[in-house]
Amino acid sequence: MCGIVGYLGSREAFPVIIKGLQRLEYRGYDSAGVMLYDGSEVRVSKTQGKVFDLKTKAEGEHNTKGFLGIGHTRWATHGVPNDVNAHPHQSNSGRIVAIHNGIIENYAPIQQTLEKRGYTFQSDTDTEVLVNLIEEIQIKEEVSLTKAVRLALNEVVGAYALVVFDASDPSTLVTGRMGSPLAIGVGENEFFVSSDASPFIEFTSNAIYLEDGEMATIRLDKEVAVRKIANEKKVNPFIHELQLSLDEIEKGGYDHFMLKEIYEQPKAIRDTYRGRLNVESGLIKMAGIDNQLDKFLNAKRIIIAACGTSWHAGLVAEYIFEDLARIPVEVEYASEFRYRNPVIGPGDVLIAISQSGETADTLAAIKMAKSRGAFVFGVCNVVGSSIARETHAGAYTHAGPEIGVASTKAFTTQITVLTLIALKLAKEKATISDSEYAHLVKGLASIPSHIETVLQSEAAIKEIAEVYHQSTNSLYLGRGYNFPVALEGALKLKEISYIHAEGYPAAEMKHGPIALIDESMPVFVVAIRKGHYEKVVSNIQEIKSRKGKIIAVVTKGDNQVAELADHCIEIPEIEESLSPMLTTTPLQLLSYHIAILRGCNVDQPRNLAKSVTVE
Ligand code: AGP
Repeated sequence: MCGIVGYLGSREAFPVIIKGLQRLEYRGYDSAGVMLYDGSEVRVSKTQGKVFDLKTKAEGEHNTKGFLGIGHTRWATHGVPNDVNAHPHQSNSGRIVAIHNGIIENYAPIQQTLEKRGYTFQSDTDTEVLVNLIEEIQIKEEVSLTKAVRLALNEVVGAYALVVFDASDPSTLVTGRMGSPLAIGVGENEFFVSSDASPFIEFTSNAIYLEDGEMATIRLDKEVAVRKIANEKKVNPFIHELQLSLDEIEKGGYDHFMLKEIYEQPKAIRDTYRGRLNVESGLIKMAGIDNQLDKFLNAKRIIIAACGTSWHAGLVAEYIFEDLARIPVEVEYASEFRYRNPVIGPGDVLIAISQSGETADTLAAIKMAKSRGAFVFGVCNVVGSSIARETHAGAYTHAGPEIGVASTKAFTTQITVLTLIALKLAKEKATISDSEYAHLVKGLASIPSHIETVLQSEAAIKEIAEVYHQSTNSLYLGRGYNFPVALEGALKLKEISYIHAEGYPAAEMKHGPIALIDESMPVFVVAIRKGHYEKVVSNIQEIKSRKGKIIAVVTKGDNQVAELADHCIEIPEIEESLSPMLTTTPLQLLSYHIAILRGCNVDQPRNLAKSVTVE
């Protein structure tokens, strides 16, 4: 996610902002920028690269004096990482300056309207549109900055944590929050604004946290004035006395980045379909697909190339693409595909899936497929990454930076993107009925709240982890759409707890693995009451008769499996084709707690890197 730091007070703003942005580096970013005001002029520096590069550039470009400043680290969502797209963004007059974390969904029509009124745009960002909208409103309505920001925020749709400065009212900062956190540090005759408290915790432990739909006007000689964006209603802000350590703040109060990212999945999935899926109309808009629809509709087959967890997301896509859109799909380990001299050429579509967008084998598979005439589409989480730039088209997951080595929210948001594509193609090809399509669209939109329900089972899941954390081996079983989930659950356990784990299609038990079953073997089974449920129940009975320990992920209220399994973790009822985004969460939490109980380094497991950029 982007990082925001603002300062207004008696100190020099520049060092406070630079250090504050460095405190936010854990959020992941690709460029940075700062605006300083010393009472006479506005000075802006911004650069692709690190905060250190920004510090060097700003010090080289002008003096860095000033009692007021706003700084930003950008995690690109609109527009590739470069100097121009970095924040802060200025209005055409240069008078108004803004930094923003979030996504403005309706920025394009607003930009068109402003262009008709003579505004020009230097960057590809939604933020530059917003800052010019604020200026346009302020001039037309002849209102204060606070009022202009409020009116502008009532026109935009999307998520934002926003800080705005106006050179014609230079002792003020105006902030607004919707769907992206914003904290205001209240010091002795000084104020801080930031994405979390880490930039100001060393200066003050007094913090105001804006709620969604609130804005604040910060002036040196006044109290912080908080209002509702919708109706200007005044809000009495509560000043928290923070007891958090810096480390706790960076992890959002969670013990580890992995746990934080498991809990971020509802938001990450919402952000991934935000602006792409209109639940009411059922319309799915994805530029990367819409502009290349013929390639997919006329594809002889779709080949999916990926590694690790991303490969598991590709397996889920195989089920959903063939089941709904009736397009033949093959899923390949990129490391094998790139070397086995595969048959691929014009008319084929290759989908490359990668969280980091830097995995060497996946990148090589893309280049080989392109060299043989295939159309290559990327599903990445890092804007402007090598894979994102190498593919002919693509769609980003908007999961935000994934810091934990074990991939969690990237997996569920990859499936979100792939599900959107499959639904869009199925609709175009009329391979599913309108009613089934509408049902699946609504089901997809219900996933985030269902995951929130599953997350409430964490305490019970932790108790199960306590029973099995000393196991030396384990099996994961699933059928249909949940066979890839069995593989993903096994990978999560082995990569962070170092327990050997294998995932299998449940029906494969009789072809060998059942020989492993005894009372020391925990078997994790995804047994939702959909698909070939009765067959899975039979598999569970076979395991039970050989004294295996069964931990089942079941549909809420399923008593049949509950009578057979040693432990059950319930998930809300959901269509089988949408269930992997839900059934994976309990397995993520199980592996997390087992690893913690074993004293493992959950965020940086031994021998592993977050991105495998070498063969
Ligand atoms: C998954 O938890 C692992 N971190 C690993 O398997 C990862 O999914 C794989 O290396 C692929 O990475 P990518 O998605 O960045 O290409």
